[in-house]
Amino acid sequence: MTSSRLPGFYKMKMSERLRRLAEQLDGEELRGLGQSATLPLANADAMIENAVGVLGLPVGIGLNFLINGEDVLVPMAVEEPSVIAAVSLAAKIAREGGGFKAEADEPRMIGQVQVTELANPDAARAAILRSREEILAAANALHPAMKMRGGGAKGLEVRLIKVGEETHAIVHLIVDTQEAMGANLINTMCEGVAPLIERVTAGRVRLRILSNLADLRLARASCAIPFEALADFGFSGAEVAHGIAEASRFADADPYRACTHNKGVMNGVDAVALATGNDWRAIEAGAHAFAARNGKYEPLTRWRVEHGSLRGSTELPIQVGTVGGAVKANPLIPVLLRMMGDPNTRKLAGIMAAVGLAQNMAALRALGTVGIQKGHMALHARSVAVSAGAKGTAVEEVARALIAAGEIKLHRAQEILAKLVAAPEAT
Ligand code: MEV
Repeated sequence: MTSSRLPGFYKMKMSERLRRLAEQLDGEELRGLGQSATLPLANADAMIENAVGVLGLPVGIGLNFLINGEDVLVPMAVEEPSVIAAVSLAAKIAREGGGFKAEADEPRMIGQVQVTELANPDAARAAILRSREEILAAANALHPAMKMRGGGAKGLEVRLIKVGEETHAIVHLIVDTQEAMGANLINTMCEGVAPLIERVTAGRVRLRILSNLADLRLARASCAIPFEALADFGFSGAEVAHGIAEASRFADADPYRACTHNKGVMNGVDAVALATGNDWRAIEAGAHAFAARNGKYEPLTRWRVEHGSLRGSTELPIQVGTVGGAVKANPLIPVLLRMMGDPNTRKLAGIMAAVGLAQNMAALRALGTVGIQKGHMALHARSVAVSAGAKGTAVEEVARALIAAGEIKLHRAQEILAKLVAAPEAT
């Protein structure tokens, strides 16, 4: 893959887009694109209970991403219009400042084992810590292949937590899940070590399950965008940058705003999660719990103006896998992962953080200037222009005229197009 810049991609017919993509990638990698039924019914039936069909969702490509100096085409599955156009534009703007830097922690997840009915919680805690090596070995014996791959249970912590009138010992198994998201692996380990933990504590184990607050598995992304790249809508770059920074401060100050701000971040993150076969509910739950970690719900991204540029950053838990049931069950997912260059989980998490940051920037850029509806209207006007029969550069011209007329209707588009064809200079 040489470049994620595919100018004019949005204007092409789908078949042309696929051809353009094929030029960019090996033809083999596109199998399944351009079709609507990519999840065989038999797979759907094996994936869930009471299956009766398959629900389709559009898959598009987030363009223009430059992440750690590498171009990447980002597959996104999403039902909401404007998300992909907006993120692609934000990524294009960010390129002017060298794109995004992104990274992610090692894929370490937390499994919780809740120990109740403890006569002496402190003594139970000490007993668990004394048995640390034995517990970790018992956990790893349940998944020797993961240990051989360099992963597996690696750490153990015990927290004493007041639950109602009782104090419970909450054991955290820290598990390196390598290329897996890890839910099954961790749950098996938590259930497997429970009898041993009951023996050493003389307590009673209740819940044995992973925590989706995956705060040992954070992904980060940042960018620095020169003012010049931000000028638009008749606003100077500095004005746009200050608008974005002020919107970021608003989200810092108000949880009502922070929630919507984060919804915009997750528009991008979830769309990549879906396109790569990942559990977006886990990612959502983790992101929002992390956003509230300081006792107040906070934004997942921050923007500030510094030395003539706009600087943005994000940090959030991203619990993803590149192997496992859901990734394999849908034959399109490996195709989409290959399109991204087959990233490992850490790289994928970094890409998702960059996409979330870009998606948020796109929203704040519009909100801090002309508002979000203008962009929606521009897209809507373009699609009305196409429906009226406009082609090539006429699409933009008709769309512009529709917006100027304040009436985005098919009959108006047809009139404008007819005039344009009759007298191209006059419109
Ligand atoms: C809409 O899907 C997302 C936004 O509301 C995000 C935001 O307000 O920052 C535009």
